[in-house]
Amino acid sequence: MNGTTADTETRSGSGSDELVFFVNGKKIVERNADPETTLLTYLRRKLGLTGTKLGCAEGGCGACTVMLSRYQTHTQQLLHYAVNACLAPLCSLHLVAVTTVEGIGSVARKLHPVQERIARAHGSQCGFCTPGIVMSMYALLRNNPTPKMADVEEAFQGNLCRCTGYRPILEGYKTFTVEGGCCGGRGRDNGCCMANGSGAEESSEEVVDESTSLFNAADFTPFDPTQEIIFPPELMSLTNCETSASLCFRGDRATWLQPDSLDEFLHLKWKHPDARVVVGNTEVGIEVKFKNMVYPVILAPAFIPELNEVRHTEDGVVFGAACTLSHMGAVLRQEVETLPPHRTEVFLAILEQLRWFAGLQIRNVAAIGGNIMTASPISDLNPVFMATGCKLTLFDKDGSRVVQMDDSFFTGYRRTTVRPQEVLVSIEIPYSKKTQFVFAFKQSPRREDDISIVTTAMSVTFNPGTDVVEDLKLSYGGMAATTTMATETAKKLLGRRWGEELLQDACSSLAEEMTLDPSVPGGMVTYRRTLTLSLFYKFYLTVLQKLRDQGVKAEEVQSDCQSAADLFHPETPSSVQVYQAVPEGRGQDDVVGRPMMHLSALKQATGEAVYCDDVPLYENELYLSLITSSRAHAHILSIDTSVAESMPGVVCCVFADDIPGSNATGPVQYDETILADRQVCICFSDQSGESLRLMDRLMMFLSFLQVTCVGHIIGAVVADTQLHAQRAAKAVRIQYEELQPVVTIQEAIAAQSFYQPIRTLQNGDLEAGFKQADHILEGEMHMGGQEHFYLETNVTLAVPRGEDGEMELFVSTQSASKTQSLVAKALGVPANRVVVRVKRMGGGFGGKETRTTVLSTVVAVAANKLKRPVRCMLDRDEDMLVTGGRHPFYGKYKVGFLNSGKVVALDVLYYSNAGNSMDLSLSVMERALFHMENSYSVANVRGRGFLCRTNLPSNTAFRGFGGPQGMMVAESWITDVAQSLGRPADEVRRLNLYVEGESTPYNQILNQFTLDRCWDECLSRSGYQQRRAVVDLYNRQNRWTKRGLAIVPTKFGISFTALFLNQAGALVHIYTDGSVLLTHGGTEMGQGLHTKMVQVASRVLGIPCSKIHISETSTNTVPNTSPTAASASSDLNGAAVQNACEILEKRLEPYKTQNPKGSWEDWVRAAYFDRVNLSANGFYKTPDLGYDFDSNSGRAFNYFTYGVACSEVEIDCLTGAHKNLSSTIVMDVGHSLNPAIDIGQVEGAFIQGLGLFTMEELHYSPQGVLLTRGPGSYKIPAFGDIPTRLTVSLLRDAPNDKAIFSSKAVGEPPLFLAAANFYAIKDAITAARGESGISGPFRLDSPASTERIRNACSDRFTKLCPPAEPGTFSPWSVQV
Ligand SMILES: Cc1cc2nc3c(=O)[nH]c(=O)nc-3n(C[C@H](O)[C@H](O)[C@H](O)COP(=O)(O)OP(=O)(O)OC[C@H]3O[C@@H](n4cnc5c(N)ncnc54)[C@H](O)[C@@H]3O)c2cc1C
Ligand code: FES
Ligand code: FES
Repeated sequence: MNGTTADTETRSGSGSDELVFFVNGKKIVERNADPETTLLTYLRRKLGLTGTKLGCAEGGCGACTVMLSRYQTHTQQLLHYAVNACLAPLCSLHLVAVTTVEGIGSVARKLHPVQERIARAHGSQCGFCTPGIVMSMYALLRNNPTPKMADVEEAFQGNLCRCTGYRPILEGYKTFTVEGGCCGGRGRDNGCCMANGSGAEESSEEVVDESTSLFNAADFTPFDPTQEIIFPPELMSLTNCETSASLCFRGDRATWLQPDSLDEFLHLKWKHPDARVVVGNTEVGIEVKFKNMVYPVILAPAFIPELNEVRHTEDGVVFGAACTLSHMGAVLRQEVETLPPHRTEVFLAILEQLRWFAGLQIRNVAAIGGNIMTASPISDLNPVFMATGCKLTLFDKDGSRVVQMDDSFFTGYRRTTVRPQEVLVSIEIPYSKKTQFVFAFKQSPRREDDISIVTTAMSVTFNPGTDVVEDLKLSYGGMAATTTMATETAKKLLGRRWGEELLQDACSSLAEEMTLDPSVPGGMVTYRRTLTLSLFYKFYLTVLQKLRDQGVKAEEVQSDCQSAADLFHPETPSSVQVYQAVPEGRGQDDVVGRPMMHLSALKQATGEAVYCDDVPLYENELYLSLITSSRAHAHILSIDTSVAESMPGVVCCVFADDIPGSNATGPVQYDETILADRQVCICFSDQSGESLRLMDRLMMFLSFLQVTCVGHIIGAVVADTQLHAQRAAKAVRIQYEELQPVVTIQEAIAAQSFYQPIRTLQNGDLEAGFKQADHILEGEMHMGGQEHFYLETNVTLAVPRGEDGEMELFVSTQSASKTQSLVAKALGVPANRVVVRVKRMGGGFGGKETRTTVLSTVVAVAANKLKRPVRCMLDRDEDMLVTGGRHPFYGKYKVGFLNSGKVVALDVLYYSNAGNSMDLSLSVMERALFHMENSYSVANVRGRGFLCRTNLPSNTAFRGFGGPQGMMVAESWITDVAQSLGRPADEVRRLNLYVEGESTPYNQILNQFTLDRCWDECLSRSGYQQRRAVVDLYNRQNRWTKRGLAIVPTKFGISFTALFLNQAGALVHIYTDGSVLLTHGGTEMGQGLHTKMVQVASRVLGIPCSKIHISETSTNTVPNTSPTAASASSDLNGAAVQNACEILEKRLEPYKTQNPKGSWEDWVRAAYFDRVNLSANGFYKTPDLGYDFDSNSGRAFNYFTYGVACSEVEIDCLTGAHKNLSSTIVMDVGHSLNPAIDIGQVEGAFIQGLGLFTMEELHYSPQGVLLTRGPGSYKIPAFGDIPTRLTVSLLRDAPNDKAIFSSKAVGEPPLFLAAANFYAIKDAITAARGESGISGPFRLDSPASTERIRNACSDRFTKLCPPAEPGTFSPWSVQV
């Protein structure tokens, strides 16, 4: 506990306890403002404004973005700015106007153009991110009605979307920008159609039936900035009349004191030396939420004039400590524009750091003082402040002092020389001197909105007119417990000439001075050490160039090294989408094949779409919080709930004994417990759900509960509110007896810890194949797992119905029926008592296929115990900890090939990290084996798959379901083959591609094979050959940046590999007014399934989509549904919907014949009065399927979806960062049901794949603790990561006779195509290694993170930082 108990108020005694603010124009007077309540909680729970979403609670996703407006009396200006409501303290909102997504427009009232355009441009899929993105854009337009694209990109730095791949959002919003023009910038070269006179981009001029436009910007409602809602006049007069800004709010655990003068602030700090000063709350908010900190006294000095002023002195610019980073940025930009360049070197370095500092929402509130005083070792500003000797003015009650930020300022981890009763009032940032050069650089896993791995600022001053060093400061973040300076190195270089000799000595010295313990938190030791040298080299080159620019005689920068000093400047992305237009003459009413907007998109953009946690609170509802294991493998010796149960609001705890039915659970095998138990159940379910219990309560004599992973659910606390439940759950004390965990695949192999069976898929004669081969090579690769990071975390609301054991559950799940059956089993009731309802999900991606039940069953048990509604939405960190993700894979291969490059034999071993239960791991492995040859014909092949049983949370389905892992290893060996022969990889790939009529290793003949067409189109659309020449030339001309190019195919089998799942049902009601209620077995998670189903029904019934409605998916309308997964839901449910509609159509036929001129309503009415059943159910099962592993016979898949991608990247060999320059994707999706949705799926999957293969990295400790539990540490692609040029083309004239209306499944197949970026990176690294004389195949594991890229580019700097001997230390994280 920090601070002291607050018995205080503001010194003047006038502290008001009335918080006055406005929300969407409505005045709110809050007399019980709790300092620990955030604006987001208040909006959602108190005001019922659920449009603003909770995605992470740590300022990392932007789902909670709202706009704040404040009237500044001293400037008489209105300030509008986007903020994260999840971090904004309610108490900080006095006299502020809050605008939420509901406040700017609605479907019912009037849409705001910002809402309309994102929807109509297809920029909203699941929609969970949409309100936040809408509000970021809205805030931008309020400040700047005619922004540039660069402004839009900056506005979105703090927003994430996991579905769309960002392209359509940017495209839709481009229509607001100066670049957008009348067509939304869809003309040639990303310009306006009027500018080039050519109309919309036409990529293949000779083709007349191709379309390239997915929306028509001319249909958009014009944007009129004068029509915006006004700042509440009452608020303006209240602000003007306010005589004192002193405020005091008391909550349960904390008191908020807002002084309005420096004097008062200093007095309060003297009285409460342990009080926390809060300005932006972006640090303190995180500490309270995630580190369980309690700060009894909070001082909020944001309105004290001295802390907000900006002053110019002779030496520099003085900023008040409460100035926000955005404000500082604006002031410094102004300075740079007006002052001579030599005076603004420091300012430019700060601006460079600010460009990559958090997102705009954070910069709009975070204060300079907060950054300094937090004293984080990875602060991005402190290195600059230190290297340039900024001066801090500190005050306490008795006076002030000025300290220089040098290497004595930070005294330890998050500690400074500032005394407890002192406060920071201002910082002076100096002008630079004529001979001074300053450089700052931040290296992070993701460029935008990410924390640094290493961050640096360097400043050198020369003797005038020379290249002799007079003064040098080298400051680093990320290299010690504090921001640190390389003083020894700097000292050695004083008086030296700035040249190659100095460089060499600097690097040797830095390598000695900037060391790290091999076990250091954050890991990446070799990389971090190398970065200190590499960044110095960049500085060296930059300074050399600047010296020469100033006419100083200095060494020349070699032309091939110049690009090493270039700072990254993002280019506005451009894109082209190509699809086949519907044939001329087809009626407008037939919407199949047209780019129809997602049916919920508008509601999603206005916040009216209801997600599970948006269901209004029931009157007697309770909230549940999980109690989970903090050990990977242990016996539980004791659980002490006494403190938790005595805490405010707590109703009860729930443990295994409270389960009335069976505690044994699991989607395929009942090998898990709902809540940790003494019993060990080894049960198997036959596929109909009946349990064949082999051993029950076998180990009752064991006296210990057992936990088998960190995050294992032990119990739960139920309380009146979320906060109370969560606090109590953290107060439960558990004693463990630790057992040895198995964490990694390698550990599992050593311990032979595998689930059974071990699958083998074999064809041809392996021995003969290897004999035939001219060459044999062996290799291996590891592919990391992936967190689903659906923007909406898992959530369940369980409502007992009061009789016959009935219960209704609202769940965000892809699998309503599985939830129903497992809840029924837990409650010991038949399935007919449990109804599961799914309106929509905020993303699923496989993560909500089975693992949702781990939460739903616990919530249902609690609701059953208390006979009251119980809700739980997992926090992001809990969700990441508990629910598992994509399986990490390790592949080991031996490949035999001819001199020509033709592969003739392949033996591959796959090991997956399955985690602590079976879940879907066997099916995932089977799919990996089905895709082990990717798209290459290999006559003699064997694949074996081992499922490693480890003490990690059970891994599960994730878009692609093992397919990407299987194919990734294939692309590794095909690359090795090309590299070992010294042949171009594209040629070796093409040579090995299947051809029509060939057979797969599982004996399925490839008919209607279109991969070769996709390949050829991709080659030509990407201009592959010309590009290759340009890339090679670039690489010859640049030493430290390299480009790479790769073209990669995919062939994805469509069907569930479990035969029985290939079925679906639908239920269609026609009401007497002619409206149609459609229900089917699939769930909507943003993929547009409901929209496609309405399109299908519309075509079959011959009525407009507007007459058809889908309300939800529920187990009491369509029973026994398969999970919405395997990309097959449109195929399966579409055919079932078609079946039901055809039945109804047949029943209506006589009435149409009788009254051919009548309307739909006439026919429906006539049929009704004639007593015709206007309700029908439809059913479909995929014919002719059923593969058997033992005999390697039977059809595994209904058909295949094919695609090819070509990507070009550029890597920075010194930092490991890369740019995605361009990607061209050609995808065969048959006759697309809806090209906008299908292109959305292609792009969304591709960007998710980009994350998987190049960025997203889960870190686990050697003890099995997940270290990456939120957007702060786990990086999914952001707006800035998409390829600068992106072309998506849906293959034309490729009907598929195996699925509804000749379409094809699309959800999963494109994900793997992002492997093109991975192999393009590998291509670029190959060029870099060539510079050091290294050639031939090399291992590159996935993801190709900055660390891996840098380490693989072996060079003079890496050689100075050799890694520690493995086994001699315990690393911070291990490859699982
Ligand atoms: C999503 C996210 C992204 C981030 N990205 C980055 C990043 O890229 N780079 C980076 O460096 N940081 C980053 N941060 C950290 C954080 O935003 C900054 O450190 C920020 O500047 C803190 O300012 P604040 O006003 O919000 O601090 P607060 O949380 O309000 O306060 C932080 C600390 O400073 C003390 N303090 C504040 N003002 C004073 C004062 N005048 N006198 C004495 N003590 C004071 C407080 O007591 C408290 O301990 C990020 C944080 C988040 C949540
Ligand atoms: S919920 Fe606020 S940023 Fe994620
Ligand atoms: S649409 Fe953006 S997260 Fe789903």
